Amino acid sequence: MSRSAHPAGPRHADVLPEGHYSGPAADLNELDPKVWAQTVTRDDDANGVVTVGGIDVKTLAERHGTPAYVLDEDDFRQRARAWRTAFGHDADVFYAGKAFLSRAVVRWLHEEGLNLDVCSGGELATALSAGMPADRIAFHGNNKSVSEITRAVEAGVGRIVLDSFQEIVRVAHIAQSLGKRQRVQIRITVGVEAHTHEFIATAHEDQKFGIPLAGGQAAEAVRRALQLDGLELIGIHSHIGSQIFDMSGFEVAAHRVVGLLKDIRDEHGVELPEIDLGGGLGIAYTSDDDPREPHDIAKALTEIVTRECDAARLRTPRISVEPGRAIVGPTAFTLYEVGTIKPLDGLRTYVSVDGGMSDNIRTALYDAEYSVALVSRRSDAEPMLARVVGKHCESGDIVVKDAFLPGDLAPGDLIAVPATGAYCRSMASNYNHVLRPPVVAVKDGESRVIVRRETEEDLLRLDVG
Ligand code: LLP
Repeated sequence: MSRSAHPAGPRHADVLPEGHYSGPAADLNELDPKVWAQTVTRDDDANGVVTVGGIDVKTLAERHGTPAYVLDEDDFRQRARAWRTAFGHDADVFYAGKAFLSRAVVRWLHEEGLNLDVCSGGELATALSAGMPADRIAFHGNNKSVSEITRAVEAGVGRIVLDSFQEIVRVAHIAQSLGKRQRVQIRITVGVEAHTHEFIATAHEDQKFGIPLAGGQAAEAVRRALQLDGLELIGIHSHIGSQIFDMSGFEVAAHRVVGLLKDIRDEHGVELPEIDLGGGLGIAYTSDDDPREPHDIAKALTEIVTRECDAARLRTPRISVEPGRAIVGPTAFTLYEVGTIKPLDGLRTYVSVDGGMSDNIRTALYDAEYSVALVSRRSDAEPMLARVVGKHCESGDIVVKDAFLPGDLAPGDLIAVPATGAYCRSMASNYNHVLRPPVVAVKDGESRVIVRRETEEDLLRLDVG
């Protein structure tokens, strides 16, 4: 993944980058279940319109407008449940709210027996207002404010994940002044960074999160935390990256975290009861991605930790994980209406939609790849190489870099980009004063707005003149 935005330039002129999934699918009408939410189907009795949760996308567009994020509630619940079941009763699954958070989602998570990871006062407020019990909330962040920490301690969150030496003292002081003993974990950086198919096991302490294991810094953090009355140190936390398919990064991380647990036992005579291995498990954005099932991931992580603990003669701690993308990512697609279509001879056809980088910044920001399909009808026209772009005043405003769409695509058609449940609405902006789309949950033939569309009144209300 590229880390640099590239608003214009020669890269955009490549017809298909090397190594890109090449050529159109045999049938553009087919919807690969790997990238689409579980209840998505094409209704061949109704001219091939796509339905989700028992409702067709034309009805959704009429009722709720476009663009809209359409979220399959059954799929969300099933994925949440699959993670919960895979890890069983000896482990905890904390859904990472940064991927997408709303009060409806908090209620679903609560009902499905998951916990919640929040990383700001806003996420904490959303979780509490939707009734998530505070003791099932973990509070993260590299720069939590005093007021955020105070609210979290007062609310009684189950754990605060300490991210720096200063925060160890800060949280201890706040807890003590409130007459409380706060359960905490310490986030360490184990020198592993993983992205997609690769991981790098050196020199990745150079980042803003956590306390490096290197140079005895994590051991020193533990020493200090154990001395402070306001803190109850319950475990060590490690998060190694995002959109990861390769488990070997977790293996190295678990090895190093368990090594620290062993050192803590040897030095302090204390066996910390928990270890959190973070989130970061990958999903399929295109048919070329092969994500692992929660059951396989749970088995692999549990085996790694158990093996490492046996070797170190430690009791196996309670494991927790923090998947965000892997739960919500595949459950939603963004529904757009096609506007201007501009064929550029010999290059590709630019297909403009009524949203863009304000509802999905990931393509511009990370060079992320997405799929796209015509969903308001079926078409057997010849495939055309297309680039789906938004309506923003910027040439880097690309939603799908390279994709094949039917050559008879026309203004007014509906197209959908799957796997936009994670880090799209939660990273959406008002760039160009474009209004952020709603999130519409569908289930059993019903649609329900769970986050409403922004209005011009919303914009003007914030602009106090
Ligand atoms: N736990 C911690 C401590 C994290 O920092 C994160 C993500 C997660 C869990 C959840 O990771 P997930 O399972 O969702 O990959 N905006 C980027 C992703 C940033 C992830 C930040 N931390 C993107 O759109 O790809």
